[in-house]
Amino acid sequence: MHTPIIAANWKMHKTVSEAVDFISGLKKEEATFSDRRVIVAPPFTALRPAADALSGSSIGLAAQNMSYAESGAFTGEVSAGMITDAGCTYVIIGHSERRHLFGETNEQINKKLVLAFKEGLKPIFCIGETLQEREADETISLIRQQITEGLINISAGDIDSLIIAYEPVWAIGTGRTATPEQAEEVHRVIKETVQEISDKGGTPTVPVIYGGSVNEQTIESLMNQDNIDGVLVGGASLKLESFLNIIRFRASVLPEGE
Ligand code: 13P
Repeated sequence: MHTPIIAANWKMHKTVSEAVDFISGLKKEEATFSDRRVIVAPPFTALRPAADALSGSSIGLAAQNMSYAESGAFTGEVSAGMITDAGCTYVIIGHSERRHLFGETNEQINKKLVLAFKEGLKPIFCIGETLQEREADETISLIRQQITEGLINISAGDIDSLIIAYEPVWAIGTGRTATPEQAEEVHRVIKETVQEISDKGGTPTVPVIYGGSVNEQTIESLMNQDNIDGVLVGGASLKLESFLNIIRFRASVLPEGE
């Protein structure tokens, strides 16, 4: 069993001061979730102030995206080196909003993954099917394709520091969470597929986290599944109190005085 990974994707929300205030509040509570791996992904503009606010903490910092190019004439893009320089150790790659709103392809996502590993970043590689694909019974083949095309030329050693996020597109921001059993089934296939690609025998080791309308009510039943190693939370991560309640699901360490 992996240490539970609880990641906040703030998408296009929070100014610098809002991000720093949130992080200061989160840091104060850190002793209550020392047995969880907590990651926050603010927008680009807040990354450096967020890194400064996180100093001395073991909460991880992620960028929400990066360029598929290393440097050059790519107006508006931000490179892997720049986000590392801003203090990130993680980067979200291939989020469904990037795929569907901005037309990112598996090929571009693969380039990003290659560059992220080259830079020493830990990617949170997002995959997931649309409702149409699920209804056409294409979920498993689509997921396998996203993984195999996304991980071309990535070494087994690099795959060891990968996190995969399964985010069914139909469950994102819709209030419609995949049932724990639906997510569990796909997570198992994801782990087996990654294990095949990295050509390792034995028990699959890649952590796979679930995203899509996760909240304080659904966290526990999701985390009860064997192959759900954590969550990537959008809307419910924007308020400190609800994010803390998600982090502390089945808390084994209680806040001082409780
Ligand atoms: P919601 O939790 O708002 O559905 O967003 C999920 C997501 O896309 C996290 O990356």
